[in-house]
Amino acid sequence: MRHTLNLADATDLSRPAIDVAAVLDHLVREADITAATSIGFPGAVDLDHTEVMTRLGNRLWNNIGDPADTGGVAHTRALERAVITWVADLLAMPADDRWGYVSSGGTEGNLSALHAAHRRDPTARIYYSTAAHYSVPKVVRLLGAQGVPVKAQPDGEMDYTHLAIQLRRRRRWPAIVVATAGTTMTEAVDDTGHIRAALDEHGAAGYLHVDAALSGIPLALDGLLRLDDTSGISSITISGHKFLGTPTPCGVVLIRDHLPTHGSRVAYTATADTTVTGSRCGLAAALLWNTIATYGREGHRWRATQARRLAAYTTDRLNAVGWPAWRHPHAFTVVLPTPPKQVRKKWLLATDSGTSHLICMPGVTHGQVDAFVADLASAAPPRPIPRPRQRPQHAPIPSRTP
Ligand SMILES: Cc1ncc(COP(=O)(O)O)c(C=O)c1O
Repeated sequence: MRHTLNLADATDLSRPAIDVAAVLDHLVREADITAATSIGFPGAVDLDHTEVMTRLGNRLWNNIGDPADTGGVAHTRALERAVITWVADLLAMPADDRWGYVSSGGTEGNLSALHAAHRRDPTARIYYSTAAHYSVPKVVRLLGAQGVPVKAQPDGEMDYTHLAIQLRRRRRWPAIVVATAGTTMTEAVDDTGHIRAALDEHGAAGYLHVDAALSGIPLALDGLLRLDDTSGISSITISGHKFLGTPTPCGVVLIRDHLPTHGSRVAYTATADTTVTGSRCGLAAALLWNTIATYGREGHRWRATQARRLAAYTTDRLNAVGWPAWRHPHAFTVVLPTPPKQVRKKWLLATDSGTSHLICMPGVTHGQVDAFVADLASAAPPRPIPRPRQRPQHAPIPSRTP
């Protein structure tokens, strides 16, 4: 039974007495109810964070300053350094050329990496595909840089021919290209081999950043995303609350050949100001550390495999009931024509321009998929959508071969 607490009234801070417990109960109850049908967004829900939240959740953990600093109050910086090391190792990032930190999320990671690239070449044009996350053009505006949109193919992958044309038109200027590993709508992975080749042909300097918010960890676990000398990639950002399922938004940004501290040393914090924000969430670092310590590479690889199996099952089931669904071979995301309103009222999907998706993140169950497919099967038949070109059966390899 749904409870009828009026949230706007109950949370009005001008009222003399507020029933805090009732409001919190209401929020948890609503979240529990919607969780069962919330299958359109990429947060894993299979991990248990109780221990960290119970032990650390009631204190301030503020990793202010550079994670490598040992000055000031340590908070969870040791755990943050361990997280950075684990992710950098996973990406085969050279031990003598790595810098990074636990950020507030993918947007801050993109800002930090693109700021580092732009600092090197302030006249560089920043190229990004029309399927890139909205944070990328936002970061370009924040930096006061010139952005160059590049067309995406119907399946969400960058159109490399158009990239080459756009680069050729701007030969005189250095280029920063943002590739995406796991686009927001279709989980397409841009081929950094193609992009690097286009950059190498470009007359002026070229920098390649990969926004790997969703697919960074799963692809790296498969050895398909690397930040080594052969990759031609200079920086990568990864979300913490997506595949690694932290209950608070966060991310990891890793940058090669990082220029020495651009900020000055701050006397009162006894740390270097190298990060986008000053105060940073130490609880997020502890939560990330916990999922890595608990599952390790093998555990997380298993989670990715199970989730991809469920995504394949979902695609088959949808096609079997006449809904033309498809997915990239490595993807958790299943793309389908937008279901009718009555289905979307119950199931929280992501929808854009007649296309919707559900994402089989770890924690989504066969039961949820079966219930969704049954609801779709009894709804009106889909309107046909243009199918993307046939995808290869192997995952695209987002790194340059040596
Ligand atoms: C490809 C991509 N990049 C960046 C982001 C932004 O991440 P955040 O919301 O953590 O800032 C997202 C979020 O969905 C994303 O899908």
